Amino acid sequence: MRLTIIGTGYVGLVTGACFAEVGHQVICVDNDSAKVKLLQGGGIPIYEPGLEDMVRKHSASGGLRFTNSTAEGVEKSDVIFIAVPTPSLPDGSVDLSFIEKVAREIAAAMTGYKIVVDKSTVPVKTGDKVAETIKRYCKAQVEFDVVSNPEFLREGFAVGDLMKPDRVVIGVRSQRPVAAMKEIYAPFQAPIIVTDINSAELIKHASNSFLALKISYINAVSVLCEAAGANVQEVAHGMGMDERIGNRFLNASLGFGGSCFPKDLSAFIKIADQVGYDFGLLKEVQKINSAQMDRFVKKIVDTLWVLKDKKIGVLGLAFKQNTDDVRMSPAIDLCQRLVKEGAALRVYDPKAMDKARAILPNATYVEDMNEVAEGCDALVIATEWEEFKKLDLDRARKGLTHPILFDGRNLFDPAEMEKLGFIYKSIGR
Ligand code: UDX
Repeated sequence: MRLTIIGTGYVGLVTGACFAEVGHQVICVDNDSAKVKLLQGGGIPIYEPGLEDMVRKHSASGGLRFTNSTAEGVEKSDVIFIAVPTPSLPDGSVDLSFIEKVAREIAAAMTGYKIVVDKSTVPVKTGDKVAETIKRYCKAQVEFDVVSNPEFLREGFAVGDLMKPDRVVIGVRSQRPVAAMKEIYAPFQAPIIVTDINSAELIKHASNSFLALKISYINAVSVLCEAAGANVQEVAHGMGMDERIGNRFLNASLGFGGSCFPKDLSAFIKIADQVGYDFGLLKEVQKINSAQMDRFVKKIVDTLWVLKDKKIGVLGLAFKQNTDDVRMSPAIDLCQRLVKEGAALRVYDPKAMDKARAILPNATYVEDMNEVAEGCDALVIATEWEEFKKLDLDRARKGLTHPILFDGRNLFDPAEMEKLGFIYKSIGR
């Protein structure tokens, strides 16, 4: 099918590439000319495993094209996906100005029936507003349908998540666009759920908030484990074997971050507020998450006492593994707090160092993870990169002035670390 994706961020670009991979003709539109030029020239603005090869392959074959003209994208395709940012406003609600602007641009360019699909994460009832806007600004007065089709991809695993989705949600106001939407997704061989548009929009916020709740739950349990002398990983394992609970998203950590969970939680609380429901449960999820970081910083301060003039090595800057994304990264938050206390940092991340430099200009960026500990008073693990498990622990211990390791992601075994001579402090163990 002929598809256009407006917005080439993490969601739009991965979606466009995966649609091309299954044989659709895809046009990706972005108003950032520099980005479009980079993509047209075979470059890629983000790191996402597997994405670069896919974009190159389909750009070369002509199945995936890039332009900064929304009008061209609308004219040449039957289905237009909106995948633009929906950032938080200072009060926690969602800034829908990009969505509104794109809806107007699509409307202005429409000369025949189109299906306009919202992929961005938006508050319930946004689909109705998009439909109203298109109707108002479409001079040609042609027919159209608005569909909600939320994305559930995780950064770092986005290509895999999109190629093999657990489910595809299609929210509609009438049955007319259903056949085309099913045809688009048929090659992905996933269960397709057709709902009303409001339910589809709610599924996204309810899912992300639930996952965040699951992490905060295990983080709260980790506090109990520390107090009681239990091991949160064993508790999570025992819980997760109950199929009703499941073992995923039960990794205790220094807290969740990223461009989705914090923003979606605030938005969902606000949406509930607007319809007259106080979603206290989710407010508690936020509180537990920020307390988790406070507790981790306290652990470091309690051990090292005064941080002023101390040198601390930090492994991990991205908000999670497999990505270069540092937006709302707990690792960056941690670094900023340590710097505020007067510590000097030596940092390393496999992919996120370039993006971190602007936020942490005074840290020393080290190119090899095994050199980070050199001359430091302590080493901290802040992101769950698999490769950190292969750290040369012997070298790290010898390089540190004192063999102290704070593990915010529970990557190592406490008994093993003690045997190796480390003072090892992790989460809930
Ligand atoms: C999330 C959702 O998973 C995805 O479905 C949605 O479409 C977008 O938001 P993403 O933000 O890319 O995806 O990352 P995710 O893997 O969910 O991790 C979010 C944060 O939670 C990270 O900081 C991660 O380190 C943390 N996390 C995750 C934990 O602390 N413990 C866990 O068990 C899982």
